[in-house]
Amino acid sequence: METLRMVTVVAPVNIAVIKYWGKRDENLILPLNGSISGTLSTNQMCAKTTVSFSRNFTRNRIWLNGVEETFENRRLINCLNEVRRRAKEQGKISPEELEYNVHICSVNNFPTAAGLASSAAGYACLVASLSKLYQLDGDISSIARQGSGSACRSIYGGFVEWIAGDKNDGTDSCAVQVVDSNHWNEMRVLILVVSENKKKTGSTAGMQTSVATSELLKTRVSQVVPKRLADIKQAIYNKDFKTFADITMQDSNQFHAVCLDTYPPLVYMSEVSHAISDLIHQINEEAGKTIVAYTFDAGPNACLYLLEEHVPLVLAAVNHVFPTTQNADTYFTGIPVTLDSQLEKKLPKIVERTPWDPNALRYTVHTKIGEGPKELTAADHLLGANGHPTPMAF
Ligand code: DP6
Repeated sequence: METLRMVTVVAPVNIAVIKYWGKRDENLILPLNGSISGTLSTNQMCAKTTVSFSRNFTRNRIWLNGVEETFENRRLINCLNEVRRRAKEQGKISPEELEYNVHICSVNNFPTAAGLASSAAGYACLVASLSKLYQLDGDISSIARQGSGSACRSIYGGFVEWIAGDKNDGTDSCAVQVVDSNHWNEMRVLILVVSENKKKTGSTAGMQTSVATSELLKTRVSQVVPKRLADIKQAIYNKDFKTFADITMQDSNQFHAVCLDTYPPLVYMSEVSHAISDLIHQINEEAGKTIVAYTFDAGPNACLYLLEEHVPLVLAAVNHVFPTTQNADTYFTGIPVTLDSQLEKKLPKIVERTPWDPNALRYTVHTKIGEGPKELTAADHLLGANGHPTPMAF
């Protein structure tokens, strides 16, 4: 039997601090404004993808989280076509191999239903693995962008900027690293997964309606984002947490204001989300300095950026206001942390607050800034020697 050429890659989630919202080209996925995000460590959350091609594969096939899907998704096809187009140009793959069908198998190690940027990690992983299979050189973020806009930022580690670009063909719309994952080594991220199952309008449809109807979005794109991009990059270079946090929270708030300015309005934050934002402002106020920032994407979950030294206190405060009846090991996931036992002494006003009924939060993830996609070894392949998913793929 022929040995299949096979590549397996893990790729990270990223959480924007300056949000991407609105496209100037739907097919190429070109944004109205630039954006910046932190790439999260793949130790806690990641997508994992195995790709292979063979003369024996009779059609293109894809399995996602153990279930076979049809190979009809326009964005998936655009990514594969662009990888093959570049591979042909670069000439390392034979014309015969370029014609072979592919098998793709991908899993997320976190629940996709939780709305945790799964498409960004998924498309970054798809494009990074295909690019290795087809031996591409050069920047691949502009290919990942064509799967899902935010995916282009998951191609690099650390803090990453997606340059909006202004060319019609999108060749200048790609991601660049602002700083690597070691630069602000103390930075931590807490994800608070809010208990709620309501189906919200997806990002793609939501931003289309915003572009068509929101006046505030126009002002945001032309008057607000350019300065914020410059200022937050400076704050990241200088490790100036207060400026970083202020801009992050203001940009999240403006993004949700644009959502409300959309007609009909898009409501992504829930009552619990607003209570979390309120709590964070109260923590900063009582601490006498800004020690934590929130940001919310197109869903109710909160993502908190904070420095390592403040994780035990902030998590103790969150846990006081949002108690849980769950076991600690399934509730506090990710990097281990011991809650600060001096909450009452350090933040007495928070302790005076009446807690919510238990289980408003489903679980928490403690993670940090990490690196971009990484190739794994044969032991991690999700496809077997016959090109079909192994038990690991389910
Ligand atoms: C709110 O990248 O999911 O998370 O390009 O249509 O696939 P498409 O949208 P997507 O939008 C993400 C929007 C956001 C903000 C951000 O990540 O910058």
